[in-house]
Amino acid sequence: MKTRRSWIVGLAIVGVMFCLSSVQASTGDTYLDLGQKKLEVKHGLTKEAAACVECHAKKTPGIVESWKLGKMGHASVSCYDCHVVDKANPMASQCEGTKGTKTYISPMVSSKTCERCHPTEVEQFSKSGHAYLAGKPVLENKAMDGLMYHNEGGEFIGVDRSEGRNRASREAGCAMCHGGQVELGPDNKPINGTWPGGVGHRYPDGGIGNCTVCHTRHQFSVAEARKPEACASCHLGPDHPNIEIYLESKHGQIYEAHGEEWEWDSAPDTWEPGDYTAPTCATCHMSGIGELSVTHNVNERLKWDLVHKRSVVRSGERGDGEKGEQLMKKVCMNCHGETHVDGQRQMLQNTVDLYNTYWDKIVEMKKVLADKKLLKADQWKDPFQELEYYFWHHAGRRARHGTAMNGPDYTHWHGFFQLFQIYKDIEDIYNMRLETGKIEELSPVMSTGPL
Ligand code: HEC
Ligand code: HEC
Ligand code: HEC
Ligand code: HEC
Ligand code: HEC
Ligand code: HEC
Ligand code: HEC
Ligand code: HEC
Repeated sequence: MKTRRSWIVGLAIVGVMFCLSSVQASTGDTYLDLGQKKLEVKHGLTKEAAACVECHAKKTPGIVESWKLGKMGHASVSCYDCHVVDKANPMASQCEGTKGTKTYISPMVSSKTCERCHPTEVEQFSKSGHAYLAGKPVLENKAMDGLMYHNEGGEFIGVDRSEGRNRASREAGCAMCHGGQVELGPDNKPINGTWPGGVGHRYPDGGIGNCTVCHTRHQFSVAEARKPEACASCHLGPDHPNIEIYLESKHGQIYEAHGEEWEWDSAPDTWEPGDYTAPTCATCHMSGIGELSVTHNVNERLKWDLVHKRSVVRSGERGDGEKGEQLMKKVCMNCHGETHVDGQRQMLQNTVDLYNTYWDKIVEMKKVLADKKLLKADQWKDPFQELEYYFWHHAGRRARHGTAMNGPDYTHWHGFFQLFQIYKDIEDIYNMRLETGKIEELSPVMSTGPL
């Protein structure tokens, strides 16, 4: 007990010094702001803040041990700073240790809490596809509603929407990557499997975003977020195999061969080639490199929308594609010459053009079938529409992402090679329907189709 207490006092002193020195050392407004705000939120470990740590070191040692390893733990940003809320906060409740006191806590912590000390990161993040747009398919998109509850939730086999099992796929699948909306019970604790959630999770305090998806709690490490593994829990699989593509690219090869020797912990905007010899996901999409600064807006450096049915240059809520093109080229130019980079950009243009050409033909065929009433209402019982889905959502994304991130196996074997085959099957079904004037009774695609 005694040793633990002196450790805490020591930590508090180191924390205050650390915080003051980082305020002085930095010229950026963020850090000045951060210092002032930190003083407001009662910094150093007050008696109350120390009490949380002390008891939790016994009750939930795993949490305290990770917290101690992180920079915020060192700077004595503690449980109290992130988990204590006003009694009036919609998420306010009490834990065993605060019952009967005037202190209220919440196990939920949204980006609103981080915003107090990291306003720039939260502002950039909020403008990205990782925030509001990520939760939208789960919460607001009607077509996805049908997919999640009716098909995957089993309504079509008689499962009622009010049942827990109807939510299984959405709550343990979609929402764990995309995020959803926290629903609260009478004690202000989350219910219905709506917490925790993915990157764009929405909280009762109005905050959008779960920062722990890349900086896992309670270490909140920048080094971790710079590694490709930080993105891999979501960016994988048949429909967006970004980690698979990365690991097969030359960049991934170098990461696997030499990553252990790289310097991962440099200060923001000083993590530069030399600390590493090939880029990770973060280097290209987020980190400061050369004249570019760190950004939490992952859309900033993108030209194309490679995720939806037809690829277009990004605009509006999806970013500014022309600007994105310039920024992404600047990333590559730190390590490649212009001839190399222009060649890569042209390859991506060609891939997008070929993919779109196929796609436009499928859209034309579908229109003819719709006019002739030769489409089934249930897309999942209609082979033409099932194949159309696999075409754009699986193989089509793989081909586009493969070229964008330099994974030839995904451009070709998992991409265009499958695309032309799916296309030919779609064409056969189209011709057969026009000839017979009928829709086949049994789907030849059956269950999973071409993965
Ligand atoms: C920098 C802010 C921050 C600090 C400091 C912090 N937490 Fe957390 N904590 C979070 C975030 C963020 C989450 C995830 C919340 C979410 O998903 O809504 C979390 C989740 C939790 C949870 C619930 C998740 C679970 O696995 O049960 C507990 C319990 C918790 N923290 C306890 C603590 C304790 C104890 C401390 C002090 C040693 C602490 N936290 C320090 C931000 C913080
Ligand atoms: C005397 C021990 C003790 C103290 C002091 C204490 N806690 Fe807890 N806390 C617990 C225990 C035990 C649990 C798990 C059971 C529960 O949720 O009540 C818990 C749970 C939590 C949770 C998760 C709640 C949930 O719904 O899952 C958070 C967050 C938390 N504590 C934060 C704090 C903060 C912040 C402080 C300081 C203001 C604090 N605790 C002080 C013992 C303590
Ligand atoms: C009370 C102020 C405060 C709050 C609230 C806060 N932070 Fe911090 N954060 C800090 C300080 C101080 C540092 C250390 C800065 C330094 O090392 O220069 C820091 C550093 C960080 C780092 C860098 C860690 C590293 O390895 O370099 C990350 C990531 C981070 N915070 C994430 C978060 C997240 C996510 C939240 C919300 C869940 C949050 N912070 C809430 C004050 C805060
Ligand atoms: C918890 C899951 C999760 C993690 C971890 C994650 N992402 Fe994402 N990411 C998503 C989801 C979900 C989307 C789709 C958002 C939407 O619906 O518009 C997305 C979209 C993106 C986009 C495209 C944005 C757009 O609007 O089209 C980029 C680029 C991206 N992520 C990069 C990254 C990088 C780089 C990392 C790691 C440093 C990462 N992501 C970590 C879930 C995650
Ligand atoms: C393993 C994590 C994961 C799961 C599970 C997941 N997604 Fe996604 N989803 C992503 C990522 C990552 C992207 C972004 C891919 C990109 O930008 O290339 C994405 C993109 C999307 C998009 C296109 C972007 C947009 O906002 O229009 C939609 C729609 C979508 N997902 C809906 C869903 C639905 C609905 C579910 C559940 C039925 C689901 N996803 C399950 C990770 C996931
Ligand atoms: C998609 C993954 C991802 C998400 C989500 C994410 N971060 Fe980060 N964060 C990173 C990466 C990568 C870095 C390191 C950038 C670099 O190389 O310097 C970073 C760095 C930071 C830093 C260090 C200072 C800086 O600007 O580099 C802070 C503070 C931080 N993040 C806070 C947050 C907060 C707050 C949130 C939630 C709004 C958040 N992060 C969400 C990936 C993420
Ligand atoms: C060498 C730099 C580089 C690396 C490394 C890299 N990317 Fe990319 N990424 C790109 C480029 C270039 C694009 C296409 C940009 C454009 O639109 O012109 C892209 C596109 C994306 C998209 C597609 C957005 C959409 O429209 O569907 C996602 C998601 C993504 N990257 C995530 C990741 C993840 C996750 C990793 C690591 C596993 C990663 N990237 C590694 C350069 C990189
Ligand atoms: C941090 C440095 C770095 C950055 C940034 C970087 N690359 Fe690379 N890249 C390398 C290295 C090193 C190789 C390995 C060269 C070899 O195979 O000998 C490589 C290889 C490649 C290859 C394989 C073909 C070849 O030259 O061997 C392609 C394609 C590629 N990079 C494209 C890109 C694109 C496009 C970008 C920007 C979106 C980019 N790179 C950004 C370092 C980088």
